[in-house]
Amino acid sequence: MIEIQVYRYNSERDRIPYMQSLQVPEHFRKRMVLDVLEYLHEEDPTLVYRRSCREGVCGSDGMNINGKNRLACITPVSEALGTAGTLVIRPLPGMPVIRDLVVDQSLFFRQYARIEPWLVNHEPAPAIERLQSPEERARLDGLYECILCGCCTSQCPSWWWNPEKYIGPAGLLQAWRFIVDSRDQARTERLGGLEDPFSLFRCRSIGNCTWVCPKGLNPMGAIGMIRLELLKEGS
Ligand code: FES
Repeated sequence: MIEIQVYRYNSERDRIPYMQSLQVPEHFRKRMVLDVLEYLHEEDPTLVYRRSCREGVCGSDGMNINGKNRLACITPVSEALGTAGTLVIRPLPGMPVIRDLVVDQSLFFRQYARIEPWLVNHEPAPAIERLQSPEERARLDGLYECILCGCCTSQCPSWWWNPEKYIGPAGLLQAWRFIVDSRDQARTERLGGLEDPFSLFRCRSIGNCTWVCPKGLNPMGAIGMIRLELLKEGS
């Protein structure tokens, strides 16, 4: 059997959170962590977590698995376990727990909204679409794939200390995505909106964001690119 520890908390029932010890059959080693949760949920329907697509697309099952934020649906149990004897599943850190593995992501999405994640373009809309050259389109690679699971922001110490002021790696990756988009006309305003001590510059280049991103993206690199642009603008 595989030993499991799951974070449990139900404010209507529990005075404080606790870790529940459980077991699943050995063959789950070859399955995903989400399969483990589904199995446990069958046994105990009061265990709560989010999930939807089951293939790393919707971003709803971000959680902390053996110390690293990951998507449960695309994380093999064997990989998460490594040499550890127990699979330890906790909610995303740095975000208020609503119940068990479900966290409140309101602030995360408010910070995302701050970067105005839409194209700003006041030219009359063309009949069909706003075209880009292959090179212009290629600049969005490594940026548009973000699914806003929150794994990066939730693993970032700078976010833990200043979640109200620091936008966090997910929001900043998206900020860069719009700054480099050839169809966007708000580059100056976007850069100007980040030029304060906290929104962008609170990043301390710790790199947890890039370490944990389940889509293999590089938020720390994007943050560095924005800093460089601001430096160029100032020189
Ligand atoms: Fe959608 Fe995991 S269930 S990303």
